[in-house]
Amino acid sequence: MSGALARDAAEAQRAALVADAVAGLSAPRKTLPCKWLYDAEGARLFEAITRLPEYYPTRTETKILTEQAEAIAAAIGPGAAVVEFGPGDGAKAELLLAGLHAPAAYVPVDIAPEWLEAAASRVASARPGLPVLPVVADFTQGFALPKRIGAAPRLGFFPGSTIGNFEPAEATAFLRRAHASLGAGSRMLLGADLVKEVAALTAAYDDAAGVTAAFDLNLLHRLNREAGADFDLTGFAHRAVWNPALERVEMHLASLRPQVVRLAGRNFRFAEGETIHTESSHKYRPEGLEALARAAGWRAARMWSDPRRLFSVWLLEGWAPLAGAAMRC
Ligand code: TRP
Repeated sequence: MSGALARDAAEAQRAALVADAVAGLSAPRKTLPCKWLYDAEGARLFEAITRLPEYYPTRTETKILTEQAEAIAAAIGPGAAVVEFGPGDGAKAELLLAGLHAPAAYVPVDIAPEWLEAAASRVASARPGLPVLPVVADFTQGFALPKRIGAAPRLGFFPGSTIGNFEPAEATAFLRRAHASLGAGSRMLLGADLVKEVAALTAAYDDAAGVTAAFDLNLLHRLNREAGADFDLTGFAHRAVWNPALERVEMHLASLRPQVVRLAGRNFRFAEGETIHTESSHKYRPEGLEALARAAGWRAARMWSDPRRLFSVWLLEGWAPLAGAAMRC
């Protein structure tokens, strides 16, 4: 990208951040879209979260993928083209591909080219000879698969319980679009965190070392830096709250006193204890996950879990005729 284009892109991004912040902070229940949590510092802190003692999902899912690798590979069969939605650093793909029989290709899909690059080069060096075909796209929307994967059976891969960060209607829409992008006859390997005792759930999102708190508060730092806001970071605290009706952990930033924050020439008033909702992480019961999949045109073929039933990995098969044709290059 040329210097001028990069500046235009950064300016468009800043304008979108300001617009989202104004809309979210004006709502009767204040909220900020979770995608803004992931600037460079947010991405670094998130990586640290995945290694925390309290944060069981990454470690448990990795254990399932490792210990059940043979059963998973047998269920999937040979020659799959693995299409990963939001590959992160590519570590889970590397693990999955190592277990599969003669995978045909690896297609990481992400909107951020620099993250794609990291995952693509990791997998390419771990598996020389495997075609690695990155696609720059917003994976919540439809996208076209690279022609080079030909007629290889397609396996979507969406680990990390990222499905749980969508609102339920968005999760259904995502799974339906993923089906359309992957095409008829495709399958999907999906990681989903399970409902469990509340203390374990809230601890995973409010660790003793304060890394998740720093991750959440980094959003206010970002608004100060990029949107010219004047949040006093000592005036807010991170909270992880279990919402029993919606079966999700919610992350909030709570105002510790009555205060007024300025952003984009406006005043935003906070009562003591009032919160900004920054992210949700839905937890699933097996029957709930099956219902969600079914509503989006997928059928649950297999489920793998750990002995303590903390986390689940699902193999979904498309059952419904696709609404509209898959997109073509
Ligand atoms: N999807 C994972 C989860 O909900 C990872 C994640 C997304 C996360 N946002 C987060 C973890 C914020 C901690 C805090 O657990």
